[in-house]
Amino acid sequence: MDKIVVRGGKRLNGEVTLSGSKNSALPIMAAALLSDETSVIHDVPNLRDIQTMIKLMRSLGAKVSYDDTTLTIRPGKTLNPKAPYKLVSTMRASVCVLGPLLARTGYAEVSMPGGCVIGSRPIDLHLKGFEALGAQIKIEHGYVKARALKHLAGNEIYLGGSFGSSVLATGNVMMAATLARGKTIIESAACEPEVVDLAHFLRKMGAQISGEGSPRIEIEGVKKLHGAQYTVISDRIECGTYMFAAAMTGGNVLIRKAVPSHQNAVIDKLLQSGVSITKGKNVLRIKGRARLKPTDVTTLAYPGFPTDMQAQMMALMAVTPGISVITEKIYPDRFMHVSELNRMGAKIYSESARAIIHGVKRLSGAPVMASDLRASAALILAGLVAEGDTEVHRVYHLDRGYDNIEKKLSGLGAAIRREKE
Ligand code: EPU
Repeated sequence: MDKIVVRGGKRLNGEVTLSGSKNSALPIMAAALLSDETSVIHDVPNLRDIQTMIKLMRSLGAKVSYDDTTLTIRPGKTLNPKAPYKLVSTMRASVCVLGPLLARTGYAEVSMPGGCVIGSRPIDLHLKGFEALGAQIKIEHGYVKARALKHLAGNEIYLGGSFGSSVLATGNVMMAATLARGKTIIESAACEPEVVDLAHFLRKMGAQISGEGSPRIEIEGVKKLHGAQYTVISDRIECGTYMFAAAMTGGNVLIRKAVPSHQNAVIDKLLQSGVSITKGKNVLRIKGRARLKPTDVTTLAYPGFPTDMQAQMMALMAVTPGISVITEKIYPDRFMHVSELNRMGAKIYSESARAIIHGVKRLSGAPVMASDLRASAALILAGLVAEGDTEVHRVYHLDRGYDNIEKKLSGLGAAIRREKE
């Protein structure tokens, strides 16, 4: 197993180029199953989650090759509609093969994803959507079994919850509806850029979709979809993470392949913290400053502040003089990183869905344990500004979602290396 060692104290300077979005690529790969023709997807990041999805697609009978960042998917005429526990349990996003399998073969059997370290993540909304399209759902022996008795039929479906809406539930139901008979209207749909990207790919496959990016998506079912070529959007969470790395180290970093309009909530908070940001076409320049100002953040569905940037925001607040507050509205228990940041000298108190952060002058490097993907990124950010060495253990979490993070950060001047445990 690997660990990452960061020696704090370097200002980051230079340029970094973003990789394609993990959370766009995963459902888009699943969507390719909706056709028996070949699809080619570009800018797919080289991540452990992508490798897991490739294994899952192969176990369903698709032929998949991955060359550099281009993925070629040949689903062929017949699919095996069962997604096994072994794969689904290692990556929750595997659940997004349910919609495509159900629509293509009339039957899908996917292991229930189960709990997750960031909190409870039910799939009731996915199932509600499939039932509204006419599928019969059974949960047996830990598997969701979804069957379309005759064919899926379009319907009006409300997908809202107390937290907002679910990205993967919206994607899953949208994918199933592309091959249903008649019109489907999804109300309270998730508006995240990854849902928009999926809709764009589906449209390239011949789907009739409108309204993506708004809370009302309309899908007119078609008989058949064809293969398509597509380039996924860049990763907005990777982008936010490098923005914070520049801000926290008082650096000056140009981020290439950025989509500034995807970062409005993050930019707003960084501006309130006193960071200088210049937006260009597909670039962002971040200039940190010696002393940041405290802020309050509430995570919300897009276009609100993303929960996937909450841990990184906490690392920034940990070294911002004054008191900052985080309220986590999407996953109220997503605070596993608090105790690890405190081991580095941070002063953070969390209770129910809130964390109060008393900024300290300096963190001190320590051995720490990554608990999930975004928590790992927060520990690396903290390591960049801590005195001495921070050793981040269990980096397999990081490898699920950050493409070459140590190479990209060392390219900006960070003292960071990967070592065998
Ligand atoms: N929820 C329900 N019922 C459902 C589905 C979701 O109540 O049927 C609730 C959850 O409890 C939670 C909220 O909806 O409060 C959103 O959670 P969900 O688990 O549905 O999120 P997701 O769509 O599965 C995607 C990202 C996550 C990201 C969330 C929120 C992918 C592959 N994953 O998950 O990304 O945190 O949206 O923006 O797109 C990550 O990349 O680190 C990550 C966890």
